Amino acid sequence: MKIIAVGAEGDIGRAAYGELSTRHEIIKVGRNSGDIHADIADRASIEAMYRKVGKVDAVVSTAGAVHFGPLSDFTEEQFMLGLTNKVMGQVNLILAGLNYVNDGGSFTLTSGVLDRDPIRMGTGAATANGALGGFVVGAAIELPRGLRINVVSPGLLEVSEERYGSFFPGHERVSSKRVGLAYAKSVEGAITGKVIIVE
Ligand SMILES: NC(=O)c1ccc[n+]([C@@H]2O[C@H](COP(=O)([O-])OP(=O)(O)OC[C@H]3O[C@@H](n4cnc5c(N)ncnc54)[C@H](OP(=O)(O)O)[C@@H]3O)[C@@H](O)[C@H]2O)c1
Repeated sequence: MKIIAVGAEGDIGRAAYGELSTRHEIIKVGRNSGDIHADIADRASIEAMYRKVGKVDAVVSTAGAVHFGPLSDFTEEQFMLGLTNKVMGQVNLILAGLNYVNDGGSFTLTSGVLDRDPIRMGTGAATANGALGGFVVGAAIELPRGLRINVVSPGLLEVSEERYGSFFPGHERVSSKRVGLAYAKSVEGAITGKVIIVE
């Protein structure tokens, strides 16, 4: 398959790429990294990416920013980062990409553990993750031409321990191998409308 992988150079992206690149042609996308540059926060940039790449069999997104902070300090602007970037950035990959994914192809998004197992300062992430879960359930029954959509929802990765470990007391860390398999299940399997939990 020919697969667009947005965020392929990040911690989760490398896990997905490590699994999928052994069997598929991957076009890595990032704002500054990857084979092609695009910013999911900018719909015009997403459209330009699809025009450049052309038809694909799958789109995998492992990108999306949220603000972390105590609930009482959250500004509306900080809250909106998760909704405009992590949620709408990934949603726009589907809305702009519908005509670029071949019949029977798939979209795979990324959320995370925090809407089911919260941590302090994680409300922005929990909200974005919940919204993405709702989006794939709703979108799956309306996608045309046998297209599928899922969202992978991993716990904290072992490789992300140094950056985020102190925020996740008591959370089991997950291996990149298991996270990669979740992306393979979504891209190569038959399920749709699912939140694929890895924890
Ligand atoms: N790491 C974890 O343990 C973990 C666990 C569960 C969920 N998550 C979620 O998974 C997502 C990715 O996390 P991560 O830790 O893998 O992040 P990361 O290591 O910071 O990597 C992010 C990747 O996405 C790209 N990217 C970032 N913003 C982008 C944008 N606006 N447009 C296009 N590409 C963009 C980055 O490349 P450029 O800088 O070149 O754009 C990079 O390749 C986040 O939403 C995070 O909340 C992470």
